[in-house]
Amino acid sequence: MINNIVVLGIQWGDEGKGKIVDLLSQKANYVVRYQGGNNAGHTLLVNKKKTILHLIPSCVLHKNVHAVLGNGVVVSLIDLVNEITFLKKQGILIQNRLILSSSIPLIFKYHIKLDKARECNILNKSIIGTTHKGIGPAYEDKVARRAIRIHDLYNEDHFYKLLKKNVKYYNFQLKNLYQKKSVNFEKIFDQSIQIFNTIKDMIQDVSFLLNNQIKQGKKIIFEGAQGSLLDVDHGTYPYVSSSNSSIGGVMTGTGIGINKIKYILGISKTYCTRVGNGPFPTELFDRTSEYLSKVGKEFGTTTGRKRRIGWLDLVLLKKMILINSLSGLCLTKIDVLDYLPKIKVCIKYIDKHSHKKISSYPINIENWKNVVPVYKVFTGWNQSTRGITSFIKLPIEAQNYINFIASFLNISIDLISTGPNRNETIITNKFLKEFVR
Ligand code: GDP
Ligand code: IMO
Ligand code: MG
Repeated sequence: MINNIVVLGIQWGDEGKGKIVDLLSQKANYVVRYQGGNNAGHTLLVNKKKTILHLIPSCVLHKNVHAVLGNGVVVSLIDLVNEITFLKKQGILIQNRLILSSSIPLIFKYHIKLDKARECNILNKSIIGTTHKGIGPAYEDKVARRAIRIHDLYNEDHFYKLLKKNVKYYNFQLKNLYQKKSVNFEKIFDQSIQIFNTIKDMIQDVSFLLNNQIKQGKKIIFEGAQGSLLDVDHGTYPYVSSSNSSIGGVMTGTGIGINKIKYILGISKTYCTRVGNGPFPTELFDRTSEYLSKVGKEFGTTTGRKRRIGWLDLVLLKKMILINSLSGLCLTKIDVLDYLPKIKVCIKYIDKHSHKKISSYPINIENWKNVVPVYKVFTGWNQSTRGITSFIKLPIEAQNYINFIASFLNISIDLISTGPNRNETIITNKFLKEFVR
């Protein structure tokens, strides 16, 4: 029997994926990251203890669950061992249950330097606002077929030649295009080999492993990083990350087939945030934004940047539900809206000039500039929902707000998060309730 779940974000990231994966993975066998790298920041809060993860899947608090990085993930070896060590200092041992795909493309110092150099170039008017983790350049290498993948390090001579070629290529760019210092080949080579020797026991054919485990009826969660609006194909291009964070990434990023997935959960906040630049039709610049920023603690988990804030955008969610063929929706941070007198939700876009309804999803940046959101306004509930674990205990106004979202989007709301802690959650879906048992 197929039991596997995908958990992915359907906004611009930070929807609360970490919390939900931690909750759902208590009785899972594997949690698998399929894309992204340490640009992610996932927060778990259990018994007042906060755990932040960047690269390692959000199941670390459950000792019997294996954490897997698929071939679609990009990995900086230095950051990987730092995260393993950081977790170890908190008493979380992951070394023996972390599995790495042998085809993972690696991030090296030159990727990070190039990412920063591009973003900090004052002549560049279209800065993305990346996390400076080298993600874009590492994925460029993969598509350009010059990536150094983790299995290349088994053969030192082979790795030596590949690295030599790439260092030359990147140093040329760093020096001539950005007037930056070159990176040191020997240092990168020695450090990579030294770290590789400490992690090589974790390397496996992940596709083979997962397909085998699925055959045996094991429970697997595929954990997305970023959100579908940051997907390189389906997001607000070019203001996106460089991987497929939406559903297609699960298959290409792990090597399992689409029929191996039973249920796809999309996560959205009950409002909206974004870090970095790019379109954001419902963005707020007023006191409500300040209020939500403070109550929702909206600061980036990876970069500490203040997140941009806006109302929930159902036009965007509708599209993201479609492209991911979601089975159900999880709404997070309902408690952050508790004391707002009015809550707005965007139900359509109109054109700034013609005032006519925009029926298609804007594709380019010029189109996005003409979008004016039209809102439906809800009365707030002016009481705490924090920690509520059953839908009928929510104030009627909060129920109305959630029911409207469900009916507008034509999707069932299967989970509602009422606080950052693992247990501050309402699970309404029967299959998910059983999955955690
Ligand atoms: P992720 O990247 O999707 O895993 O999300 P992040 O961890 O970057 O950001 C989500 C933030 O919201 C974290 O600080 C969580 O602890 C917090 N959080 C998650 N769910 C809730 C919720 O329902 N209510 C509140 N108040 N905070 C939440
Ligand atoms: P989690 O998994 C929010 C954003 C960056 C930038 C764009 C490209 O915590 O939801 P990149 O460094 O990936 O090339 O940056 O993507 N971004 C995220 N925003 N949450 C994330 O991850 C993000 N990962 C990347 O801010 O706008
Ligand atoms: Mg995050």
